[in-house]
Amino acid sequence: MAQSAPIGVFDSGYGGLTVLKELVKVLPEYDYLYLGDNARAPYGTRSFETVYQYTFEAVQWFFSQGCELVVLACNTASAKALRTIQQKDLPLIDAHKRVLGVIRPTAEVIGNYSKSQQLGVMATQGTVLSKSYEIEINRFFPKAKVYQEACPMWVPLVENKEYEGAGADYFVKQNLDQLLSKSPEIDTILLACTHYPLLLPKIETFAKGIKIISQGSIVANSLMEYLLRHPEMADRCSKNGTIKFCTTDSTADFDANGAIFFGKPVKSMHILLGH
Ligand code: DGL
Repeated sequence: MAQSAPIGVFDSGYGGLTVLKELVKVLPEYDYLYLGDNARAPYGTRSFETVYQYTFEAVQWFFSQGCELVVLACNTASAKALRTIQQKDLPLIDAHKRVLGVIRPTAEVIGNYSKSQQLGVMATQGTVLSKSYEIEINRFFPKAKVYQEACPMWVPLVENKEYEGAGADYFVKQNLDQLLSKSPEIDTILLACTHYPLLLPKIETFAKGIKIISQGSIVANSLMEYLLRHPEMADRCSKNGTIKFCTTDSTADFDANGAIFFGKPVKSMHILLGH
């Protein structure tokens, strides 16, 4: 076993930091290694093959750093790459290592928040087109009706720090109106992209009376339960309470923007993927 075996947390950019923040609250004793593939973000509009290739390169990098367990804290990567990595790649690389996503843990509980069982899912184009949420939610809540809305402008707004501006008002309202026009009974909306929690104040303004659910704490609680059910994995992950941040793009940008998503100062290192 490598001396340090942090839990790997991956996103195309900054969004996964909203998940990491919750993981650290619930499981503070573990070591964490975060990677944002900022140089190649956004993933949301990229093809299945490209998202798989990028995500697989990231997973291989995490393994080379000693990680035994990697969380894809990115819905787009979870929707487009996770299954292939779990079923095809992991058995060839190391059958004991694990890569987990964010869609299944969210789908397992999201129906519990809704009275009407009419759920809205706001996500990137890639996640919406994959229909992963529709399929997974109906597996756990067969009576639920899932309405999806792709919000292609939301990640660029967040990545460019425009999430508090008037441009964000326009696009948030537009996508919410489109979603809510699909059913007047939607009482719960899932933010199925880890970037979207930064838009929460605006979303709540334009969706009064509707429950807006972010994934961070759902994913964190699910990982805690997973580690309780799999003590052998919990044993293989190191526990010194450290957090390391890496990015494939500028560390100065990552440190400045990452702090907003993580809620605390971050100091990143640069790494290269796909070379
Ligand atoms: N944060 C990612 C997600 O949860 C997507 C951002 C992107 O488009 O790269 O889907």
